[in-house]
Amino acid sequence: MRLDVYFGYQQLIPADVAGRVVAVIDVLRASTTIAAALANGARAVVPFLTSDEAVAQSKQLGRADVLLAGEQKMLPIPGFDLGNSPGEFSPEKVAGKTVLLTTTNGSGAVLAAQGARDIVVASYVNFSAVSAMLRTAVRSGTDVLILCSGHERRFTLEDAGCAGRYVRAIQKGLNGVATNDGATACALIDRKYGENIAKLLQNSQHGQALISAGFGDDLALCAGLDSFAVVPVYSDRQIVTLGT
Ligand code: MLT
Repeated sequence: MRLDVYFGYQQLIPADVAGRVVAVIDVLRASTTIAAALANGARAVVPFLTSDEAVAQSKQLGRADVLLAGEQKMLPIPGFDLGNSPGEFSPEKVAGKTVLLTTTNGSGAVLAAQGARDIVVASYVNFSAVSAMLRTAVRSGTDVLILCSGHERRFTLEDAGCAGRYVRAIQKGLNGVATNDGATACALIDRKYGENIAKLLQNSQHGQALISAGFGDDLALCAGLDSFAVVPVYSDRQIVTLGT
């Protein structure tokens, strides 16, 4: 079995994902926001590459049970119902709704993984739930790819650290799991920060950009290990909670 970590999705080719379970990570903030939305009762989250596509879809679906959400350069999009701060996705706002989400990196990463056997959205907030699912996949002989969204095609510390935590949990006590150098490096980053996830996020470039833009409170939410026991899976163009 293989357990690999890739950084950035723009170079991904179909052979990278075929037959694999792919876990997409965008800790700051899309994968955290998706987990929060589903854990708080959203019916589904539908990722879009652009705000225009999301708006067009909202017109087709009608606005009654639909929320437009996302960011451009971290900021809420004018005319949208919600930004990309996980704290905005409360049960009062999202329960029973379909969230149409467009973000700079995270939405694109989920879409780029299409063609995989299964696609799951991973973060710190749903770590135990998703790592149990990935471990089961590896134990049953399925290769796993952890896809770090990164930021504008670049490596990010927060996604790498989170990926490392998954790598270490999946590998624990299992023999014969081959890893690439990306997975080894991520495991070292996670080992270095240990339980100090908040510090890892604060040290990251995107974490610092979010703090400067006034979204510092989001970092604490994104660092909340196991806040939500939810496994978001992408299939048929939408992300839903596994088992619903
Ligand atoms: C993204 O998808 O690029 C991020 O979620 C950006 C952000 O922090 O809003």
